[in-house]
Amino acid sequence: MTPRSVVTVRVPAKVNVQLAVGGRRADGFHELANVFFAVALGDLVTASPGSPGSGVMLTCAGPDADLVPLDDSNLAARAAHLLAAHHGVEADVRLHIAKEIPVAGGMAGGSADGAAALVACDALWELATPLPVLLALAAELGSDVPFALLGGVALGRGRGELLTPVPVDGTFHWVFAVADGGLSTPAVFHECDRLRDEAGTGSADSDVPAPEADPALLAALAGGDAVALAAALGNDLQAAALSLRPALAATLRAGAEAGALGVLVSGSGPTCAFLAKDAEAAEAVASALRASGTCRAAHATYGPVAGAEVLPQA
Ligand code: C5P
Repeated sequence: MTPRSVVTVRVPAKVNVQLAVGGRRADGFHELANVFFAVALGDLVTASPGSPGSGVMLTCAGPDADLVPLDDSNLAARAAHLLAAHHGVEADVRLHIAKEIPVAGGMAGGSADGAAALVACDALWELATPLPVLLALAAELGSDVPFALLGGVALGRGRGELLTPVPVDGTFHWVFAVADGGLSTPAVFHECDRLRDEAGTGSADSDVPAPEADPALLAALAGGDAVALAAALGNDLQAAALSLRPALAATLRAGAEAGALGVLVSGSGPTCAFLAKDAEAAEAVASALRASGTCRAAHATYGPVAGAEVLPQA
């Protein structure tokens, strides 16, 4: 086999159809029961050889590309360094991110790019790293990175990195409303703690019941039942995201009025997610959201889709 000179990986965004947040642990992370769902909205990460000693050279294009850090703090760059260090090879690579996933939007776009860079560099450098090792490296990069490797639908326990695939029947149709400006994930978790403390329930591990996956939600996914899934959607970070960004309430309302079956903030926000009956209904909800003036853009899409995968060579 001749070595590949260019590798392009497609990687999905996620929405959490359930995000049950437990108490803050001693390490500062929150225990989660988190049902990840991969959607067709995604980024493309292309890896090509760097020159000896060049290190990781990162470029990015797409809406809000100017907000994406291009230094070694980017999860894609960190992924290339981590994989190279694991195998004792030089991390000399050019990485280009074609960005469609909203930046700092609660759809794990940065995590997706980290997962895609792992897969792209693994193929470019012909390392053939086994999936369990890639998943462990991904967990070192961040709580949401392992799921972007796996895709589909999965229950995430621990801080979200301990994954169990969840059976799903058929395709669900979604709309995502992109807000102007992002929200910081740590800030939203911190606000969740603050609201719990203010309510008197407490925010520590010992104060909050252990989060559990909702059996009704899992049954709705297994049965391909969009109406039942809509009724079971839940996000414990939603109140915190709305507290930091009250304007999101109008976005959620606009989608509900346009006929969405279910509405919720995606992850830590500020992207809002709308579950629709079918592809036609999703297009109608997206059009209504665009006309409502309550978001910057609205994308109709579907899922579940596969995790990070190498595209066939052109
Ligand atoms: O793991 P990741 O780097 O994506 O997490 C970003 C931040 O989100 C953490 O530093 C923490 O503040 C918060 N977080 C959390 N509990 C989790 C996952 C993330 O508090 N389970």
